[in-house]
Amino acid sequence: MNQLKNYEVVSCIQPSGDIHIGNYFGAVKNWVALQEKYQCVYGVVDLHAMTRNSEPKALQSNTDQMVIDLLACGIDPNKSTLFVQSLIPEHTELTWILSNLTNFGEVSRQTQFKNAQKHNESTSAGFFTYPILQAADILIYKAKYVPVGDDQRQHLELCRKIAERFNTRYEVDYFDLPEAMYTNSSRIMSLADPSQKMSKTKGEKHFIRLFEEAETIRKKVNAAVTDSGDTPEGEMSKGVSNLFTILGACGKGDEVISLTNDFYTNQLKYTQLKEAVSEALVELTTGLRTRRSEIQSDVSLINDTIREMSEKARKTARNTVYEVKKHVGIKSISHF
Ligand code: TYM
Repeated sequence: MNQLKNYEVVSCIQPSGDIHIGNYFGAVKNWVALQEKYQCVYGVVDLHAMTRNSEPKALQSNTDQMVIDLLACGIDPNKSTLFVQSLIPEHTELTWILSNLTNFGEVSRQTQFKNAQKHNESTSAGFFTYPILQAADILIYKAKYVPVGDDQRQHLELCRKIAERFNTRYEVDYFDLPEAMYTNSSRIMSLADPSQKMSKTKGEKHFIRLFEEAETIRKKVNAAVTDSGDTPEGEMSKGVSNLFTILGACGKGDEVISLTNDFYTNQLKYTQLKEAVSEALVELTTGLRTRRSEIQSDVSLINDTIREMSEKARKTARNTVYEVKKHVGIKSISHF
């Protein structure tokens, strides 16, 4: 019986410790919504996390925790397939094949690599070629849509180029070009420096964990930068605009409308906006924390579920690599 699943949506997240509200509003919330309409496959990409010199125990526990966090966010094993990347070796096999279709210059121009160079960070070859592994993660499932945050735009473009080049080079119409899917909150900015995207690497005051305690959320939102001093009179500063984006992403559209109106009639007090954002976030995260502690209690069930689902995803991955190898002219041991 052919148990191959055809996926329409694919996306992945690195297990880099705690998931933050940027990850959630930019990507994961959308992943959950898309399950209702599409066949989706989502991955916890532990091989990507290795590019940051991760410590083995932390890598393992962060990977397990990310699986739990995604389930708590609402990724449903009855609707979607959730895999751990290292359980599917075909991702790395396809990466090698695609590496030979990727120009050195294209990888050198990736912003992440250029930034690391600019700051004189020592980078591994893995960090350099990481975008090709990402292209393999996407193309191996032959899905049409890739829900991601705005920071992944360049990686997605490279993936499309590689797919196109494969088709041209081997004179086949094999890969469809995947399309990125963005939300209205595809770029959540740092609270302490709203000119930069929210990320964990900049330090505690820059981000909010999705499972953060209510008290800390309130403190962080209260301390958020609202006036960066360079905003023209009557315009919204980046910090204020970011708070409105977060409020909207929490599903508080009515409050966004009424407080935006207050802003343009000069009646908005920033404490009022911050209060609304804190309350919306606390409401959201309290529900998620409860769900996570329920799930967390059954670790063996989670391990079984993730192995089963990864095995399911692997069937599709294997089939793609088998077909790709045929086009390329290299050998396969067997089909399945
Ligand atoms: P990662 O793990 O950094 O982030 C996971 C998802 O969260 C989004 N995101 C944000 N969205 C809005 N505002 C922010 N401040 C913010 N920060 C992060 C990211 O855009 C992403 O969608 N290279 C990827 C992982 C990856 C991948 C893939 C993604 C590997 N293979 C295949 C899609 C398809 C990354 O490091 O994301």
